[in-house]
Amino acid sequence: MNIILTGDRPTGRLHLGHYVGSLRRRVELQNSGMFDEIYIMIADAQALTDNAENPGKIRENVLEVALDNLSVGLDPEKTVLFIQSGVPALTELCFYYTNLVTVARLQRNPTVKTEIKMRGFESSIPVGFLNYPISQAADITAFDATIVPVGDDQLPMLEQCAEIVHKFNAVYGETLVMPKALLPETEAGMRLPGLDGAAKMSKSLGNCIYLSDPPEEVRTKVMSMFTDPNHLRVEDPGTVEGNAVFTYLDAFATADHFTRFLPAYENLDALKDHYRRGGLGDVKVKRFLINVLEDTLEPIRARRRYWESRLPEVIRYLEASTGTAGAKAEQTVRRVRAAMRINYFEGGSFLQEGLTRYTTKEK
Ligand code: TRP
Repeated sequence: MNIILTGDRPTGRLHLGHYVGSLRRRVELQNSGMFDEIYIMIADAQALTDNAENPGKIRENVLEVALDNLSVGLDPEKTVLFIQSGVPALTELCFYYTNLVTVARLQRNPTVKTEIKMRGFESSIPVGFLNYPISQAADITAFDATIVPVGDDQLPMLEQCAEIVHKFNAVYGETLVMPKALLPETEAGMRLPGLDGAAKMSKSLGNCIYLSDPPEEVRTKVMSMFTDPNHLRVEDPGTVEGNAVFTYLDAFATADHFTRFLPAYENLDALKDHYRRGGLGDVKVKRFLINVLEDTLEPIRARRRYWESRLPEVIRYLEASTGTAGAKAEQTVRRVRAAMRINYFEGGSFLQEGLTRYTTKEK
């Protein structure tokens, strides 16, 4: 079986960084027909591990993230888009797995380490937050996922998950499926920089283009983008490396975009050459980028409008698919309970064992 599981924390609307790093690939994988089951999880319970005091924010963004996923082309006929907290089996698995992981191992997880610093949790880490890599292993294994498409920041989570699977199977017998991470293909796809040139597009840095931004906003944001600070006059030679406008073009521009919007250049290499030589102004490159981005964003907006006008249908779908996900995870929990020998009321063996012990004693 080829089974995909991946997910997003609903802490904000999804942006172009998510699109390049995961959403675009997600839809390609969905449409490849190579997978037997595809689960996309809205990780509200994980989002609460560092937003315990903000349940309203998470609730609001569950719907936003659902609409974002549908608007990039996620197909309710092919993919199970579900809400994490609606699958209680995940909590149960997580509880059993916590016995197989040490506190020191969690504290060594590089992603958790960075996040603890970012959130100022150094002196007092919520248990739930420290625990989230284990909870994520529960998410993955509950669905027997073989493939987990994620960004490189999630690799430490997949490593910990692999350790848990290995340990569980060694202690209780072959039960859990070993997952594999699937990373974004391209260099630019690994991580889209922020509008300000910062390494990452991120809501907290306020340097994002959101999938639901209207055209005027995209325009304004691109026009304000970071380029080469030494490229002051059009005649000056410019640098392409580390220039966010060109990194975005790397991620989005196609041959067809040049034919339609900038026929004076054959391709991106020709445009970069001109920029490096001097004589090519930032505004011209930015105008091209706006056209390129709009070409991607307009179909996304159109699909979003479609689903926004059918909200009752969206909610019914989320509820039904959360049920589907719950049934699948429940099967795994039954397997896990049997492996751990805590399936007392299944079959008659619990009674049998008791009877054997007590009849032996009486003799
Ligand atoms: N930690 C992931 C993120 O921040 C979200 C997530 C939760 C996830 N559970 C998962 C991703 C399981 C992949 C598999 O984006």
